[in-house]
Amino acid sequence: MKILSVTSEIFPLIKTGGLADVTGSLPKALVGYGCYTRTLVPGYPQLFAGLIGVKVLHFFPDLFGAPASLLEAQYEDLDLLVLDAPALFNRPGGPYLDENGRDHPDNWKRFAVLSYVASAIAGGLIADWSPEVVHTHDWQTALTSVYMRYSSNANTIPSILTIHNLAFQGQFPTSVVSQIGLPPETVTLDCLEYYGDISYLKGGIRTASAITTVSPTYAREVVSPELGMGMAGALSSRPRTLTGIVNGIDMDIWNPATDAYLPANYDHKRMRLRGVNRAKLLETFRLDDSPGPIFAAVTRLTWQKGGDMLAEVAEEISHLGGRLIVLGKGEAQVENALLAAAGRHPDRIGVRIGYDEATAHLIHGGSDVILQPSRFEPCGLTQLYALRYGAVPVVSRTGGLSETIIDANDAAISARVATGFQFHPATAENLRLSIHRAFAAYRDPKKWARLQNQGMKANFSWERSAEQYAALYASLLPGRRATPLVTSKAAE
Ligand code: ADP
Ligand code: GLC
Repeated sequence: MKILSVTSEIFPLIKTGGLADVTGSLPKALVGYGCYTRTLVPGYPQLFAGLIGVKVLHFFPDLFGAPASLLEAQYEDLDLLVLDAPALFNRPGGPYLDENGRDHPDNWKRFAVLSYVASAIAGGLIADWSPEVVHTHDWQTALTSVYMRYSSNANTIPSILTIHNLAFQGQFPTSVVSQIGLPPETVTLDCLEYYGDISYLKGGIRTASAITTVSPTYAREVVSPELGMGMAGALSSRPRTLTGIVNGIDMDIWNPATDAYLPANYDHKRMRLRGVNRAKLLETFRLDDSPGPIFAAVTRLTWQKGGDMLAEVAEEISHLGGRLIVLGKGEAQVENALLAAAGRHPDRIGVRIGYDEATAHLIHGGSDVILQPSRFEPCGLTQLYALRYGAVPVVSRTGGLSETIIDANDAAISARVATGFQFHPATAENLRLSIHRAFAAYRDPKKWARLQNQGMKANFSWERSAEQYAALYASLLPGRRATPLVTSKAAE
């Protein structure tokens, strides 16, 4: 099967969060099921270094007001189509925000044009390659299926919209519709119209052939009033097309036995080498090297992630004899509260504001507990990385966190299935109580080792989920079946 994936970020070229991890690793896993993915991405400046085999496939003299080219290129295993539209993408800042942290003012246009080009590819823009299925991700590419519906060449090609986070909806005034080449009839309740504005995500929800969320639990949550974020009605109107497929992780990039960012590699049989990473981690954050667990978080410091709760429990962790390390970036208030706590306890609390891949790996390889007090979490990848590295996750029971972590209650510990600690609802007080549970378990080395080992044995590779995506693609193509090209054994 030929798949066109359309995304606004892809690891390792451009990443702000888990979306990039998913779009960068799923294509590799899908090959085992006979699916060959080409991924359309915007030509951000960060993207070009390292591309090989760059070739112009199509030149647009005037793509919504400026010239642009569609390129093909390779990066490692990724087969890329790059929309090189300098007027839209060649500028300082990140994919969504400028260098001052504000939304690019023309995001409505940047991602509409990306989606338009995706629909043109589905409609046969590239002479010798057309996709059989189009797979879009989040609001930034959700308009693709809206454009496809209005293109006589592409309206029979099936499309999938994967919702990684319903909180980001691409909401803009209705006036932009006339500037992005869509007909006025798209501004109806059946398509883009959303509380007097338009929403790109809603357009995708109404027009994609199938909708997935990144965990089965989140698929149930998005149709509830609490977590539906104003889209529960639109999603409920398509119940048969909405499913959840849990994310996998890239087992090569997140592998403690070979991780190039770690001073010492280890596997579950040689856990003592983990201590070398612990020492390096403490040294990096200039924290006191005494016994007691290291709690850590690698996260966007936002309301969703419960960044404020981390600040609330910081001093208690320090008083109980632990250390807290936070690597993250986000809301100024949360950043400042964490920095203030670190200022009061510089040898016990270490906070680094910023984004740093290498330190993220070191934190997983050297800390004892990974904290994720998310108020909602469509899937979450950090807890999966933690499991693989033998750091024990403490998570709120929501979305993907609830189904990927098994709470360490007595029965689960005896049954040797427990992998972490869960709490509900997501409040600072409940986080505090779970931290106490983690301290108690840490004081019992046998119990702790059991938890770590159980986590390290859990399998969150892409294999099963890639099979589910392949089956979903095939279900949209009459007469096709997803055929595993490799058996589970061979894939290991
Ligand atoms: P989300 O996509 O909602 O931010 P996920 O848990 O799915 O949450 O994915 C987050 C990804 O971003 C992980 O790969 C994590 O390691 C990475 N990440 C988050 N914050 C940072 C940071 N400050 N530095 C490095 N990596 C980070
Ligand atoms: C989103 C979600 C996160 C998920 C990631 C990748 O950013 O917040 O829970 O893991 O996408 O799907």
